[in-house]
Amino acid sequence: MERTRITVFDTTLRDGEQSPGCSMNVHEKLRMAHQLDRLGVDVIEAGFPIASDGDFEAVQAVSAAIRRPIIAALARACTADIERAGQALAGAARPRIHVFLATSDIHLKYKLRITREQCLEQTRQSVRLAKSFCEDVEFSPEDATRTDPQFLCEVVQAAVDAGATTINIPDTVGYTIPSEYAQTIRMLRERITGIEKVTISVHCHNDLGLAVANSLAAIEAGARQVECAINGIGERAGNASLEELVMAMRVRADRYAFDTGVVSEQLYPASQALSEITEVPVQPNKAIIGRNAFAHEAGIHQDGVLKNPLTYEIMTPHSVGVPDSKLVLGKHSGRHALGLRCEQLGFRFDRRELDEVYRRFVVLADRIKHVEDAHLVELIRDTQMETPRIPPAHAEPIPAALAAAAIANGPHAVERTFAAPGPAAAAPLEMPLPSLSEHPPEQEDYLWGV
Ligand code: KIV
Ligand code: ZN
Repeated sequence: MERTRITVFDTTLRDGEQSPGCSMNVHEKLRMAHQLDRLGVDVIEAGFPIASDGDFEAVQAVSAAIRRPIIAALARACTADIERAGQALAGAARPRIHVFLATSDIHLKYKLRITREQCLEQTRQSVRLAKSFCEDVEFSPEDATRTDPQFLCEVVQAAVDAGATTINIPDTVGYTIPSEYAQTIRMLRERITGIEKVTISVHCHNDLGLAVANSLAAIEAGARQVECAINGIGERAGNASLEELVMAMRVRADRYAFDTGVVSEQLYPASQALSEITEVPVQPNKAIIGRNAFAHEAGIHQDGVLKNPLTYEIMTPHSVGVPDSKLVLGKHSGRHALGLRCEQLGFRFDRRELDEVYRRFVVLADRIKHVEDAHLVELIRDTQMETPRIPPAHAEPIPAALAAAAIANGPHAVERTFAAPGPAAAAPLEMPLPSLSEHPPEQEDYLWGV
């Protein structure tokens, strides 16, 4: 299948940085920019130079140090901003000025207090001014998805005529839905004269959790640049997550005839670097790079993953730079994973022994969220010594009958207990094992893991 190359425009250092708690100083932006370069993004939006001296310096520093990708700087559609962006980018090998101006009636009326005519004129003048600093100029009609479609076409036409090389269509407030956004992209491709000479870009916010879906729908409709951020950071609910977009295109290459230049093995390192720099943790269930993205707790899943990871993983952890899948031992875990962890800890059991360890493990796991290795080792030793005792911090009263039996049975207790949990096993620690005999052996772990 012929693949169309999608330009990845990373805005972690600009829109991403606008998320509460995510601001970065010059040194931090530089470190992150190096990581984005290793990741293989095509454009790094390094900052908004008029916003502060620090941001100006950051754009300068990134421009000087990072030579492969395009370095973009944001500017409002006014002289001071554009000049400042042009100055900050002066040392860049491949500079881009990104000019934006709101176009929705609500923004024109309440925020900018200008008419549509003034908006059109400002669009023309600002793009022309930006072109005097560099050839590569991106124009964004802010709040495009709440802009009257006819007026949006007029503004985009004005920007294209003035020389914009990329037209970005921001879903500034995360309001659109995939079918509508795709329709907007198609409309622009049909109605704008000269649109084939410019790159259509998309920039989605995640207020309805649709940023990635909207971006993909727009790409299918003809957009060729996607704006996104590592860990999905950005204003309010964030921007489209870079790692999700890239992996959606890669994992579903059968449906998406697109590719990017992203080195997917660098996704996790980039995510980790960003969290470390900003001290903003990633939610555990975040797709692709969250702590739980390759963790399995349910016994059925663990059993499947141990037999073949493809049963419950649609990509390998290594493909996104995650060291390994994790089997988390908790109350939903199965014997297969437990046995493996025991072996890793140096304990090899036969089937009946493992049944007993598992039985005690389930009781413990019902009490605590995660069974750590230390808990497990203690549980195993106790089981082997027939002194049924779980770790002191989570101590479970030892059933009197069982304790008595352990003393009475002496050194053979382990063997006997494994062999036949008798009436003394009625207490919680001694719940009877379900009978597995009626199931084929290869299904046992599956059935046990529930
Ligand atoms: O969300 C938005 O509209 C923006 C623009 C500056 C592109 O971030
Ligand atoms: Zn934005």
